[in-house]
Amino acid sequence: MPTTIIAGNWKMNTTRQEARALVEQMRDALDAVEGVTTLLCPPFVHLETVADLLRGTSVALGAQNMHPESSGAFTGEVSPDMLRGLCEYVILGHSERRELFGETDEFVNAKVRAALAAGLRPILCVGERLEQREGGEADAVVERQVGVGLEGVEDASALVVAYEPVWAIGTGRAATPDVAQSMMATIRGALAARFGADAAGEAPLLYGGSVNLGNVEEYARQPDVNGALVGGASLDAEAFTKIVQLAARHS
Ligand code: PGA
Repeated sequence: MPTTIIAGNWKMNTTRQEARALVEQMRDALDAVEGVTTLLCPPFVHLETVADLLRGTSVALGAQNMHPESSGAFTGEVSPDMLRGLCEYVILGHSERRELFGETDEFVNAKVRAALAAGLRPILCVGERLEQREGGEADAVVERQVGVGLEGVEDASALVVAYEPVWAIGTGRAATPDVAQSMMATIRGALAARFGADAAGEAPLLYGGSVNLGNVEEYARQPDVNGALVGGASLDAEAFTKIVQLAARHS
């Protein structure tokens, strides 16, 4: 069985003081939950602060993005070597990166390979736009994102995939558990074709898009949903703690 993972994606939110307060409010309660890997993904500039606050707890740390090169003339970017040792996970190919910053499947693939080479666990984000779903292309779009995103990857053991339909992110319009399960089965199939059924069966697949404490259990009940990538609700200490506790009931 894959590990259950609940990841909080803070996006471009929190000042240093707010980041500190948010972690202090939920750290002990999150640390006490068993059976779930809880992961906080603050902005780059708070990684070290949050790492210090999480030291000695079971709560893991992730970055929200990364450049594939290890160093060089890439003003404003952060490299795998800079993240190595500071955090364990890195979100890659989030739809906001794809939509707002023009990231292609090929660029996301370079990042995934660089993350793995640096010993980081990539959370590869995939998901279709509304018009693609309405046009009946959702599965094909996601299969391509997974296929190209994992080109050249030989070992799936560190890999996490998050299915986040673009139309469900930050909209309050979450995918139904059936839609989520159906796409997870598609993703699991694509992983099995590449890595074999055993490795595919061990890969944590997360659902993301308007996850809250009212719907997290419905996702957690789906056989191929192994957790959630939570945006908005991860900025509310009480709500995020409850989401992790509810997910733990089904892990
Ligand atoms: P949301 O964001 O929970 O606010 O919809 C999810 C995400 O973008 O990871």
